[in-house]
Formats: sequence, structure tokens, C-alpha cells
Amino acid sequence: MTMKTHDGLFQLQYLQRLGIDVWVRRDCGVAKQAAVEKPTGRTAIEPPVQPGVAAEDATDTEPARPMTAEVEIARLDWEALRERVQQCERCPLHRTRIQGVFGIGNRQAQLMLIGEAPGAEEDRRGEPFVGRAGQLLDEMLRAIGLSRETVYITNVLKSRPPNNRDPRPDEVAACEPYLRRQLELISPSLILALGRIAAQYLLKSTQSLGRLRGAWHHYGPQATPLRVTYHPAYLLRSPADKHKAWQDLKHLRQRLRDASPPTGVAP
Ligand code: URA
Repeated sequence: MTMKTHDGLFQLQYLQRLGIDVWVRRDCGVAKQAAVEKPTGRTAIEPPVQPGVAAEDATDTEPARPMTAEVEIARLDWEALRERVQQCERCPLHRTRIQGVFGIGNRQAQLMLIGEAPGAEEDRRGEPFVGRAGQLLDEMLRAIGLSRETVYITNVLKSRPPNNRDPRPDEVAACEPYLRRQLELISPSLILALGRIAAQYLLKSTQSLGRLRGAWHHYGPQATPLRVTYHPAYLLRSPADKHKAWQDLKHLRQRLRDASPPTGVAP
């Protein structure tokens, strides 16, 4: 595949909007065109290309450069992405985890929930939020008329950090392309960040959870509305704060209602 095609140009613009570096040959016209043409909206992602090759049909003297792993990941479909997470060795956590924990739920979900990282139970079962914190999360969802089948749930990290320590910046950076691609494939109308780590990462902020809660934020190129709430594991330790989490959930429920008003009533 070459970046000289029309689709290649769309894709380049798309990846640039996501802040992903794309390698193109220095003499390739696309880079110049991309600088002057305005993006014209969403485009279909092309099927995965041969790994590691950005411009395999280059015919002149300059050799094709390798495509970065981030660009490859940004093109994967669901199944390839899931497989890639299972095979991932981008950070040292693959040495201590049992398996990658990809995500679960409805791939057309309006609401995407993002936690921190798998714990021991999640690592064993390969599914996010299935331990005690997960049971509380299920209850929180039920309280606003949702279930884990109607939303999509994943984590910033796909591998369990040993002893459930906080994720390290290099681990977060290594995992980032996976979450970014999940967000892009789902294109949710709302995001709920569960806990400080997910909130600070998604909002690129160092503010405390207390400061980030209680307001609508926006995430990414689509400016997707994002709300922050307490991590369910924290709520298990500090049940006195459950009422604040309930306030957050009510805001979320209202926004979901606004996004899909009841139908069937004639004007
Ligand atoms: N805590 C998280 O942040 N994610 C899980 O999947 C489980 C516990």
C-alpha cells in the first residue's frame, strides 16, 4: 500500500489528527498535500497492511521506511487488535501477567467506561472488572439502568501491574495505542473515567480526582464528553463517598437520556 493514494491521504490526515506520527518517504507528495488540504470528515480505516512496511511499492532510489507499531495498531480491526494485545510485549508487564485483559461489552456502546488496570481476578479470567470492585461497578451501572452488556468496559493498561501497584508512565505510553484504537472503533458518545489514574491519563492532567470530578470534560479529536467518578475499589474502602459517585452517575444518566430521547411520540 502506498500513501500516495487518495485513501492514503485521508488516513494520513486522520492519524495526524490523533497525534500519531506517520512515516512517509521524503519525496512522497502526500505529506505536502496533507498540509494544505482540510480533513473532510471520518474515513474508513484501510485493512491492515503487511506489518512493518509503510510504502512497499516504492520504486525509486529511497528505500521504504518501517511503519511504526503505533501506526499499525491504529489500523487494526477488533479481532486483530484483541490478538495484538494478547501477544503484546511492548512493556515488561507481559513477563508477570497471566494474559492481556482487552475489554468487554457492546462494541456499539454509547457509553465507554475506562478503569486503571486489571487486578488479580481480571488477570486470571481475562475480563475487566470481575473482582469485588467489578461487582460494585455492576451495581453502579444497574442503578442507572445499564449493564455490562450495554456499555463497553476497558482499562488504561491491558496487563496487570505486579501487586496492583500504580501503572508507570512507560507502561501507560506503551499501552496507549490500544486504548486509543478501542476508543476510535467504538466512538462512544460518552466516556466515564473510573478513578484518578484513568481520569488524569485521559485528560492529560495532574489535578486531583476531587478537582476533576463534578464537571463535564472533553476527550480527543471528537471532543467526546467525559465524566470522572471514583474508582469502585476506592468506594469499597470509603463507602461514605458513594453518595458523591451517585451524583456523578446521575449526571451521566441525564446526558445519556438527552442523547437518546424517547421515540415513538408523533410530533
Ligand atoms: N480495577 C481496574 O481499574 N480495572 C479492573 O479491571 C479491575 C480493577
